[in-house]
Amino acid sequence: MLYRLARAGFFQLDAEKAHDLAIQNFKRFTGTPLDLLYRQQLPHRPVECMGITFRNPVGLAAGLDKNGECIEAFDAMGFGFVEVGTVTPRPQPGNDKPRLFRLVEAEGIINRMGFNNLGVDNLVENVKNSNYRCVLGINIGKNKDTPIEKGAEDYLICMEKVYQYAGYIAVNISSPNTPGLRSLQYGEALDELLSELKAKQAELAKQHDKYVPLALKIAPDLSDDEVSQICQSLIKNKIDGVIATNTTLDRSIVEGMRHASEAGGLSGRPVQSRSTEVVRKLHEELGDEIPVIGVGGIDSYVSAKEKLMAGAKLVQVYSGFIYHGPGLVKEIVKNL
Ligand SMILES: Cc1cc2nc3c(=O)[nH]c(=O)nc-3n(C[C@H](O)[C@H](O)[C@H](O)COP(=O)(O)O)c2cc1C
Repeated sequence: MLYRLARAGFFQLDAEKAHDLAIQNFKRFTGTPLDLLYRQQLPHRPVECMGITFRNPVGLAAGLDKNGECIEAFDAMGFGFVEVGTVTPRPQPGNDKPRLFRLVEAEGIINRMGFNNLGVDNLVENVKNSNYRCVLGINIGKNKDTPIEKGAEDYLICMEKVYQYAGYIAVNISSPNTPGLRSLQYGEALDELLSELKAKQAELAKQHDKYVPLALKIAPDLSDDEVSQICQSLIKNKIDGVIATNTTLDRSIVEGMRHASEAGGLSGRPVQSRSTEVVRKLHEELGDEIPVIGVGGIDSYVSAKEKLMAGAKLVQVYSGFIYHGPGLVKEIVKNL
């Protein structure tokens, strides 16, 4: 009820202004009695995944808290895990505005943010100053002006800086808004990247006496063959997890709707069934060897359950959270 009122106000604003205002408020309310506006007590539904115990399997997907500014607020909402980022080695402004659009009738969002973020050092400082109990995922990417052939270097820089503060590290090679990024999902480019990341993980695990799992985040716009090839690469390089999926370039479901032809990645309900198909395919290929984290269009307990039934061990929400608020996390966890 409370969220429905807040949403009515937020949806009067431009989408990015609403987002910024929400982040500011979460920051301001943390540690004050006003956090009661979103604090929730949820039942304990522990899940083991990638060697970590999660208090429940529902996480916040990357991109909402890019700089790790309000981890405590999302922790208070009861998420089992929060994935901050995508963060890049150097700060960057992202694409020109406007770059974020709501497709309200479809409960979808189109974004072409382009990894706007304050850089990895800023994120690490924010994480160090935060007090939270949920698992923290840190999602890393490459700067726009780093040539794609040198992309691996950016991931390694970020990995080194976030390693000791992360519960797990998500490697994002699937944003459609950084030119060339998705090319890292294929063939030798992927194999090389994963083997470099794996070697770095071994080195850092020794240095910090702590094993931090690596999860690869992939796009929904892949053929079955391409998903199979990614699975081979994940197995060969002993990657700890896979997150499926990022946003889609496909517009067929939303054709004709307001904003449908904006460039960028489409998320929310329109990507729900495609993401679930990718989760199912991954699980068929990976079995229990490598866990799948399912994300894309989860907007209710039923759609979360669909991802879990398709083989996901954990799920994440972004667009569903924008449309339904913290109550969505409660609805899912309560019914599990
Ligand atoms: C505005 C916006 C920004 C996003 N930024 C990122 C990002 O920085 N890194 C990333 O891995 N995914 C990002 N995503 C993708 C989400 O994490 C998620 O994979 C996708 O939206 C599908 O889930 P959903 O349908 O629940 O939104 C973003 C999504 C949205 C809507």
